[in-house]
Amino acid sequence: MQVGIESISFYTSQYYIDLKTLARQNGEDPNKYYIGIGQERMSVPPPDEDVVTLAANATSQALEGIDVNTLDTLLFATESGIDQSKAAGIYVHELVQLPRNMRVFELKQACYSGAGGLALALPYLLHHPDSRVLIVASDIARYGLGSIGEPTQGAGAVAFVLSTNPKIMTIDMESGLYTNDVMDFWRPNYTDEALVDGKYSIKMYSAALRESWQQYVNITGRSFTDLHRFVYHLPFTKMGDKAHQFLVRYAGADLSEAEWKKQIDDAAIYQRYIGNTYAGSVFLALASLLDNSAEDLTHKRVGLFSYGSGSVGEFFTGIIQPDYQKHLKVDLHKSIVTNRQELDYDTYKEFYSFKSNLPSDGSKAMTPRYETGRYRFAGLDEHKRLYEVVQ
Ligand code: HMG
Repeated sequence: MQVGIESISFYTSQYYIDLKTLARQNGEDPNKYYIGIGQERMSVPPPDEDVVTLAANATSQALEGIDVNTLDTLLFATESGIDQSKAAGIYVHELVQLPRNMRVFELKQACYSGAGGLALALPYLLHHPDSRVLIVASDIARYGLGSIGEPTQGAGAVAFVLSTNPKIMTIDMESGLYTNDVMDFWRPNYTDEALVDGKYSIKMYSAALRESWQQYVNITGRSFTDLHRFVYHLPFTKMGDKAHQFLVRYAGADLSEAEWKKQIDDAAIYQRYIGNTYAGSVFLALASLLDNSAEDLTHKRVGLFSYGSGSVGEFFTGIIQPDYQKHLKVDLHKSIVTNRQELDYDTYKEFYSFKSNLPSDGSKAMTPRYETGRYRFAGLDEHKRLYEVVQ
């Protein structure tokens, strides 16, 4: 029996800042962001968007055509959660009207937890072949205004359905794993901005890639040439270039620049305009590859690498299925990325700072209305978050 992805979709904020604008403000050459880190735009959530509303929109899109009564599990992967106790997925469950007979809970390990959820769901589905598992990875990346990580912020959610009817991609059961306690990126409970040792984090990413790749090769007996395309966790698109060049060298593959770039470039298209979506990033990259590859990928084996700072890495693979194109949401995804409003620096700063102004004393505060998808964060009352469906 095969298990894998039956449906996948994503959602991001309807607002972005061009990194040229940020470069001007930060006194940097725009090419440092455009070329040096490979990012052109960055999604910025308005005050009435959060990880729940992003996730609810991605979920309702991913569930189109799926019988929701077959879902028995919703795993919500995030590192920018909204409550220390209640899973954000429960709000999503209510907003998109999922069945009561389900388990819903939250997973955390920096950008890795979506891939971790997927790994646990695969054997579960083999034992429950009539069930479906929904994974939603939703995050808002915040490093602080003027901080070194600022141009690598972003926001978005990816939702995908795993089942024994993997119309898009089967996932191989074997993977390579790596865990190492390092302080490359973290966020203590008392701050909503991540702390990061940027250059060190890039080294730790590469170390996790090397070790998890090596274990994948040892376990499966496969080699670099068995994989046709590579999909990386992309905190910024240049990281994918760095990672893949590293792997090409490490695996001893003899590839020209054009050849190794072809193996990764389609997967980086959405990321370049959205920014880091943390737990969703590797799956946003997968959606980007599937939607943007001019080549038919049917029967091709694709390698995926998920990295979550702190740190955990996993290298896993899957095979693209016949007629996968019929099950993609290419037009919707492209319009989500294209039809957004550009912010000037002052409005970006206002959106960014809004979160810190929300009351923490239980008083009522309603959020101003901006452009969102079908769901919006309406405000807070008695320490409770209020959501509404936009008509
Ligand atoms: P920085 O110090 O601002 O940038 O930090 P830089 O000086 O290293 O420059 C970046 C690149 O731009 C360099 O290229 C420069 O040469 C180039 P490289 O040497 O890397 O190839 N450059 C230019 N290129 C063209 N024209 C110019 C120009 N000027 C410079 N004029 C850094 C950059 C990414 C470190 C920073 O933004 C940061 O700390 N970001 C956050 C951390 C991060 O994303 N780490 C990635 C690995 S860890 C990870 O992926 C996990 C994560 O997603 C979190 C999680 O797991 O939850 C972050």
